[in-house]
Amino acid sequence: MDGPGGLEERWRAELAQWGIPDEIAARAPADPWEHSPARFAGRTDRALADPEGPTLARIAEALPDNGDVLDVGAGTGAASLPLARLGGGGAPGDGRGTLGGLVAVDTSEAMLAALVSRAEALDVPVRTIRGRWPDVAGRTPAADVAVAAHVVYNVPDLADFLTALTGHARRRVVLELPYRHPMSWLNPLWAHFHGIIRPERPTADDVAAIAERLGYGVRRQERPAPLSRFADVEELAESACRRLCLDPARAEEVVAAVAELDMWPVPRDHWVTLWWDLP
Ligand SMILES: C[S@@+](CC[C@H](N)C(=O)[O-])C[C@H]1O[C@@H](n2cnc3c(N)ncnc32)[C@H](O)[C@@H]1O
Repeated sequence: MDGPGGLEERWRAELAQWGIPDEIAARAPADPWEHSPARFAGRTDRALADPEGPTLARIAEALPDNGDVLDVGAGTGAASLPLARLGGGGAPGDGRGTLGGLVAVDTSEAMLAALVSRAEALDVPVRTIRGRWPDVAGRTPAADVAVAAHVVYNVPDLADFLTALTGHARRRVVLELPYRHPMSWLNPLWAHFHGIIRPERPTADDVAAIAERLGYGVRRQERPAPLSRFADVEELAESACRRLCLDPARAEEVVAAVAELDMWPVPRDHWVTLWWDLP
């Protein structure tokens, strides 16, 4: 299984295990996979208020003054826009370039619109490209640093995704991802409401292994997620209803199950930053 292409095949197969059974998905009142632009905008605004963390540091240290960043699966810009708040001005080579421009790629028009309004407020020149990476790679310019934060668990063809990302970076590629699949916190609720045992894999180790297989000199840093996932249990229940394909009217049942299963507060995810430099 781990021969040439084996890791990539295993990634694809294990990701497919996260699919929602057709009979459950058919009854879903709302798209169970949808990301809320408002929720991600809140995350970006918190990151702008407190720009910190290893992902930002690894991007900043590879960025020249007035450098540009390609943010793939940019959402509302949480991984890249806070660079504008870091300021540069370090000695040459000590790592602290300034953000001269941003190219943001995303499949979601609403996410990109929220990103553009924030980029304008920060005076960051931005170009948006709506579409799926790597399908849109051919019409995307290269940048000093390419970043993809919290995207790879959406990507079955990971080797193609990473190869195109690396092909668009002049200096460095940076990924940020939770150690486990971002829907893992819901696993006890899937068992409770649907009698379904969700997978344990793939993990960030698999992403690192695939990148190494592609020949990249992968380095790694980890930390607990800086933010808790939900402000309160009602917010959790609203999100869980959507993810579990339940009618929103069942939110109180979810709250009761969360208490019974001792799921509150939800433990913080473990975030992993992976990066590699271009020769
Ligand atoms: C979980 S959000 C992360 C957003 C942002 N990077 C952050 O860290 O807050 C994932 C984003 O990637 C986008 N996305 C997922 N797969 C994509 C792909 N193959 N190409 C482009 N965008 C993608 C989604 O539309 C969504 O906005």
